[in-house]
Amino acid sequence: MSLFLSQNSVNQYLTSINGIEITLKREDQLHPTVSGNKFRKLKYNLLEAKQKGYHTLLTFGGAFSNHLTATASAGKILGFKTIGVVRGQEERISNHSLQFCQDQGMILYPISREDYSKKHLPELIIHLKNKFGNFYLIPEGGTNNLAVRGCKEILTEDDECFDLIACSVATGGTLAGLIESALPHQKILGISALKNQNLIRAIQKWTSNYNWNINHDYTFGGYAKVSPSLIDFINTFNKNFKTPLDPVYTGKLLFGIFDLIESKQWPSGIKILVIHTGGLQGIEGMNQKLLKKKWPKIIT
Ligand SMILES: Cc1ncc(COP(=O)(O)O)c(C=O)c1O
Repeated sequence: MSLFLSQNSVNQYLTSINGIEITLKREDQLHPTVSGNKFRKLKYNLLEAKQKGYHTLLTFGGAFSNHLTATASAGKILGFKTIGVVRGQEERISNHSLQFCQDQGMILYPISREDYSKKHLPELIIHLKNKFGNFYLIPEGGTNNLAVRGCKEILTEDDECFDLIACSVATGGTLAGLIESALPHQKILGISALKNQNLIRAIQKWTSNYNWNINHDYTFGGYAKVSPSLIDFINTFNKNFKTPLDPVYTGKLLFGIFDLIESKQWPSGIKILVIHTGGLQGIEGMNQKLLKKKWPKIIT
């Protein structure tokens, strides 16, 4: 499928601090609308859906979900009908992300938070099949076996020189792919974007390797929570490196990496590869929230 043909992203050297080199893998540049880890997670799922003759994709996400926008766009490009089950009926369908989904032809189906929490249960899936007919189901955040397989393709032989590979974590699917494809001398660090007590167990479902750990110190209070210092960091980073970061995942990731280097977490001489997993479409929605709080906005 042509969407998934070109798949090597560029490594952008950023800087050296305390003798530690930081390089950014620009997965966000893989495609304008199906970018970052979404590109990786959708690849084998959509190949499977085509091969098995499905015409419709159904998936789940919040009102600003990167996964929903990427699925809507990939579906349109590859000729699938798409259905997005949206968390929370109070969310207006008119925000930037959901409007984009609809512009790609995605049918949005908002459900209450309570019903959404039952998304793993067969009752809800049966209800959705009765309503929409048969579909290929992609879980929330896109993480399943095939997604992890896609995420194994993030690292290439050009990345052998790195000692530490760092990535933002929510469901852990992206990290699992990195863990599985890392070389024996490489360690994988996940910086958690949210408070998730079950994260370690979730990742252990996808891998039996021990070359990784998760840092929970940079969640900024939880999923999609931000602070003026995080926004300031994102804007300064963009000014210095001409590279945008999103406030939910990659902003927290880079904030954490720079902070850990400043606090001398690692010995001088190591080389860190940080994965830019995309998510930039979410900046507009966050800026609307920041405007309401009268905080500075994220500059793009
Ligand atoms: C831009 C971005 N980065 C990182 C992640 C975390 O990926 P995972 O859920 O595989 O841990 C997500 C999750 O949806 C994301 O949208």
